[in-house]
Amino acid sequence: MRNLLILFPVMLLMALTTSVTAQDQPLRELADARDIYIGAAAQSGLLEGDYADVLSREFNLLTTEWETKMCVTHPTATTYDFTGTDKLVEFAEEHQMVVRGHTLLWHECFPDWLASDDYTRDEAIDIMREYIHTVVERYKGRIAIWDVVNEAITDNGLFRSTPWYRMIGEDYIELAFRFAHEADPDVLLFYNDYGAEVLNRKSDRIYKLVSDMLENEVPIDGVGLQMHLQVGDVGDRLPINRQAVTENINRLGDLGLQVHITELDLKHPGKADESVLEQQAQNYRDVVEICLSAEPCTAIIVWGVTDRYSWIKDFDNNPDAAPLLFDEDYQPKPAYTAVQQALAEFTTDDQS
Ligand code: G3I
Repeated sequence: MRNLLILFPVMLLMALTTSVTAQDQPLRELADARDIYIGAAAQSGLLEGDYADVLSREFNLLTTEWETKMCVTHPTATTYDFTGTDKLVEFAEEHQMVVRGHTLLWHECFPDWLASDDYTRDEAIDIMREYIHTVVERYKGRIAIWDVVNEAITDNGLFRSTPWYRMIGEDYIELAFRFAHEADPDVLLFYNDYGAEVLNRKSDRIYKLVSDMLENEVPIDGVGLQMHLQVGDVGDRLPINRQAVTENINRLGDLGLQVHITELDLKHPGKADESVLEQQAQNYRDVVEICLSAEPCTAIIVWGVTDRYSWIKDFDNNPDAAPLLFDEDYQPKPAYTAVQQALAEFTTDDQS
């Protein structure tokens, strides 16, 4: 009995210390302990003050949100502009963060000079080869992961009719991955898309695309699931249900691929009240737990540092959009606490 009287305060102190430590730890420390990436999309023009503090304190990875896209990096047929990407890579290196380069090929932010002229297949291949080699070689050893091709498959599982597809044909995707690998054999190469989180026509077509690539020995290391979601989407019987996403992640893992959750945000129409923010927190927790429970999932990246600069405000014409972990004043939201607790506490035997 006397031992218990001595042990009890010690056990209580340990319990309090453990819980306090977990709540005080930045996300990146908790993610490091699990050997996964927790990242955020970032813009070079915002790298100061609270933005820089939150980005460097909480995240061990940053994704170049828009400045590494072709319309920015290759604005004319004979010029390149790496100003923004250089700043983001330097910032990441200063703060021991990994960089995800986003994205080499995309049908949006497609340069006008390339769109406005007719190029033969061979000319287009030469342009693509020179562009990818120039960009990837510049950041060799500094950008660790590339979204090589973004959103090449339509929602009904067809090849999207992008300028690259029209100029070159279906094998533009294979060529892009081969050129990127030639430029930096050590960089991880991903295919990235939205609306392919669960088992559907689009995710099935992506699965076939990457399976065929592996069959043809095309260098590819992973698939990015963007996860641009709406509050209330995630749950066991909802559009983004845990089992379906987990099955999708694991089937890609069975091919030997990694899966990154690449552009996570959870929007809500109009101004989110307290109950919406709580639901949002639960949905963020659901997504983190899905990733932690599926071994091939190695990164969770939110699409922005703060609600203040979320793309969704313009896209949805909703100035009150609050899809991220930190609010307009860089204060952590319930969603942040939910992610922190999931990273600190979730274990797979928690699952009922
Ligand atoms: O910051 C400059 C500002 O200085 C300038 O005055 C203004 C005028 O053009 O442009 C501002 O940059 C804008 C940038 O977002 C930052 O707000 C660019 O014009 C605009 O094109 C850019 O949009 C990006 C969009 O992709 C298109 O590249 C968004 O930030 C970015 O969040 C969004 O991200 C995409 C992913 O790449 C692919 N998945 C979907 C996702 C959302 O659309």
